[in-house]
Amino acid sequence: MYRTFVLFLLISSTYCDSSTLNNHHFPKNFKLGAATAAYQIEGGWNEDGKGVHMWDWYTHTFPEKIKFNYTADVACDSYHKWEEDVKLLKNLGVSHYRMSISWSRILPNGTANNINLKGVEYYLNIFKALKEANIEPMVTLYHWDLPIYFHEMGGWYNPLLAKYFGEYARVCYKYFGEYVKTWITINEPQSTCLGGYAEGTKAPGYIHMGEGLYQCAYVHLLAHASAYHIYDKEFREAQQGRISIVIDSGWAEPASDSDSDVSAAQVERDFVLGIYANPIYNGDWPQAVIDNVAQRSYLEGFPKSRLPQLTQEEIDFINGTSDFFCLNTYSTNYITSGNKVNESIGDPSYYLDKGTSSFVDPSWPSDVQWVHLVPWGFRKLLKYVYEHFNHPEIFVTENGWADLTGQLNDTNRITYISEYLSALLDAHYEDGVNVTGYTVWSLLDNFEWTNGYTQKLGLVQVDFQSENRTRTPKDSFKWYQGVIEKRCLVEECIE
Ligand code: BGC
Repeated sequence: MYRTFVLFLLISSTYCDSSTLNNHHFPKNFKLGAATAAYQIEGGWNEDGKGVHMWDWYTHTFPEKIKFNYTADVACDSYHKWEEDVKLLKNLGVSHYRMSISWSRILPNGTANNINLKGVEYYLNIFKALKEANIEPMVTLYHWDLPIYFHEMGGWYNPLLAKYFGEYARVCYKYFGEYVKTWITINEPQSTCLGGYAEGTKAPGYIHMGEGLYQCAYVHLLAHASAYHIYDKEFREAQQGRISIVIDSGWAEPASDSDSDVSAAQVERDFVLGIYANPIYNGDWPQAVIDNVAQRSYLEGFPKSRLPQLTQEEIDFINGTSDFFCLNTYSTNYITSGNKVNESIGDPSYYLDKGTSSFVDPSWPSDVQWVHLVPWGFRKLLKYVYEHFNHPEIFVTENGWADLTGQLNDTNRITYISEYLSALLDAHYEDGVNVTGYTVWSLLDNFEWTNGYTQKLGLVQVDFQSENRTRTPKDSFKWYQGVIEKRCLVEECIE
């Protein structure tokens, strides 16, 4: 205990200018945790009856789409080394562990008529060990590993998926609900819908810029709501848990005070964050999304808007399906206006519908192009979410720093996380935002999707060259351990 504390002081005073950090304690029940996801760490891709999913298929079929043709067939080998992971978590001292269940490990062909008890046992063992370690599991049902059967049926374009997702969720509530009291239905629909079904930069690699993202968002919302209602009606009373969805967004800052930049930034937020959050927290798509897509669809000659219109029944089905707000965030962009809604009519495109353009300040510290150290953007984002989505309790379910080296002496990660935590405390104490938890992405260096193993976000280094996948805590691990122990970012904290 004393050793950790001294190390904490040493590291915090060496790497951070602690005078700029908030000196409040974390509120009494505030939770500090760490996260991973099934495909990124488990490996065991075809073991013990697991079925094939979309990312297995994608990495095996299109190796050229992944840096150095990497796959996650073995990844961190957590399918075999989960006990070591739980020990690391216990040592770190986290209150919660955000992890995901691999749908096709539980239901090999995706449907609930064939349950793989070996898969069930794998997760039950983890939940039991977490319970023993006094760590609360926060469990995501879907972190991008769609069973291949549904992928072949059109994946997230097909509204039938909502029904099947609900059935899968029911199986998980039934088998794991005794241990799991915090459920997350789906991870980051915007990453999936933009990357997978509009731009084609993630699995399944579909390029449908005009309709893909909207149809995918629509099916995600229906699937999420269906899993929520099943929990609400059939399990909540007996299991006394809660459930939400993870929504991801950076902060969209107007590039200047001009009216056009201020309104472009708002439209950006509507198209990136609001498109998923508004139907759940306020009902229906954001008005700017409805208007822009309708107007451009009309000018492009479509008989109706490319945005699926939500019926009143669907609006009611989706609205209110969240017990708290789960937010993943990594960066900030400056936003300025791009094309006008009635300009550049030609190929239908989500980007042209949005009509904004974005850039980053080159002076913002960054090791990879999508994470920048902009803590004030994080604070503004928290305030915005709180004010625009009905004052929800906000839980940060992912935030972290990516580097290319994976070095143990990860000063930049410590600086980033400490400054983001400080901004979070500012949002709480100064802006009155009800933010109740923070989760570092990630516990382990892991398979970073199309970046393979080239980008590292772990508090723990994993040696992907060693058969043993040797885990070594980085300096950030020891620093975070100190923060958790002290519940404070600087040497002396006030209440
Ligand atoms: C995803 C994680 C991913 C992380 C860093 C998030 O978008 O949920 O799976 O590893 O970003 O890229």
